[in-house]
Amino acid sequence: MNRRKFLTSTVAMATVSMAAAPLLSYAHTTREPDDENFWAIIRNQYDVTSDITNLEAGYWGIMSIPVTQAYIRHTHFVNQNSSYYARRLYWQDYADIIARLAKKLGVRNDELVLTRNATEAMQSLINGYNNLEEGDTVIYADLDYGSMQSEMRYLKNHRKVNVVSIAIPEPASYQNVIDVYEKALNDNPKCKMMLMTHVSNRTGLITPVKEITAMAKARGVDVILDAAHSWGQFDFNFKELDVDFVGLNLHKWIGVPLGVGLLYIRKDRILDIDPLRGEAGPENDEIRTRVHTGTMNFAAVLTIPTALDFQENIGIKNIDKRLKSLRNQWVDGVINNSKVEILTPQDERMHAAITSFRIKGKTTYEENKMLMDTLTDKYGIFTVAISGIEKGCGIRVSPSLYNSREDINKLIAAINDITA
Ligand SMILES: Cc1ncc(COP(=O)(O)O)c(C=O)c1O
Repeated sequence: MNRRKFLTSTVAMATVSMAAAPLLSYAHTTREPDDENFWAIIRNQYDVTSDITNLEAGYWGIMSIPVTQAYIRHTHFVNQNSSYYARRLYWQDYADIIARLAKKLGVRNDELVLTRNATEAMQSLINGYNNLEEGDTVIYADLDYGSMQSEMRYLKNHRKVNVVSIAIPEPASYQNVIDVYEKALNDNPKCKMMLMTHVSNRTGLITPVKEITAMAKARGVDVILDAAHSWGQFDFNFKELDVDFVGLNLHKWIGVPLGVGLLYIRKDRILDIDPLRGEAGPENDEIRTRVHTGTMNFAAVLTIPTALDFQENIGIKNIDKRLKSLRNQWVDGVINNSKVEILTPQDERMHAAITSFRIKGKTTYEENKMLMDTLTDKYGIFTVAISGIEKGCGIRVSPSLYNSREDINKLIAAINDITA
């Protein structure tokens, strides 16, 4: 029995309340970020509440309508065919999806395994990294994700290593971020492994991963990269980063249904990550033994190709430019306001869609929570208060493809009004 035959019989039956949205292909054309007619077509492919202006896409990415429709069809299909599908045909579909993801990233099929989120992938890497001896050092930074920091701190007990934390400079520049990692490596000659975050969830800062990884590798230090926020948010070449251990997300900026992450380990480094709790012997180098998700959301996994189609049809270069342009619009609108501090550099290499700000002197979480609430309740704009930045908390703003120029103007007016 062939899955596509199943699908043809189930597609017609799936009732979808949203207007059918065709998947249009624009990837072959260069779309200017201010071609508002074009971006209105893309915006219309999202069904977003008008109750609030959502500038908090950093949590996860709303699915486009074609992706939602595919997800509903797949949910119906999986529910209808249940274990009969899962046991007999799912693994071929899974292999096809992995092959497509591998091709897109420029890696081998046997270097990837799906997880339920980026956290699961990162935990498997940090906790499983076995190239450590008692007394070695590992390093992480203040801008890394909270649960990854905890996982790093846990290595003190788990691997008997010295855990060092560093602060990313504020204001950050391409060179001072590289310098701070270089100093950390110089100060900690016993360092064997470093956590790095490609795009910080706190400020949207893009770390110069390629340069820092090269520097670390030259000293025999491995980098475990948290790429939860980067893939899909901006245009970069994954292989050029030259990192061997990476956790990624598909439900943030790739736009698949919630519940899908991705783990990458370079084939000849898989043995450096422990198999999961006795799942296999230490000589086993199959990546799937490095994570055990239990039952996945099959329908979410089956929707990955549609989400990739949707994104590829717009084109990552077009997406990259549009998101940066929305970000620049609000930053340009408040940057001359002497009461506002922009926490993410203007350097094009160091930001994509996400950027954070704070009102000068307002560094506590409570102050920023209050500002977030004011933006929500008084101005109808949803953002998020962010803590954990060494120099103080702030507000994170994450626009997405469903936002308009008017949404951004609303934010500019609100910030300028609040600080007036
Ligand atoms: C930098 C970073 N890493 C990891 C995660 C965790 O992702 P997930 O919720 O998919 O586990 C997030 C989520 O916001 C993140 O921003």
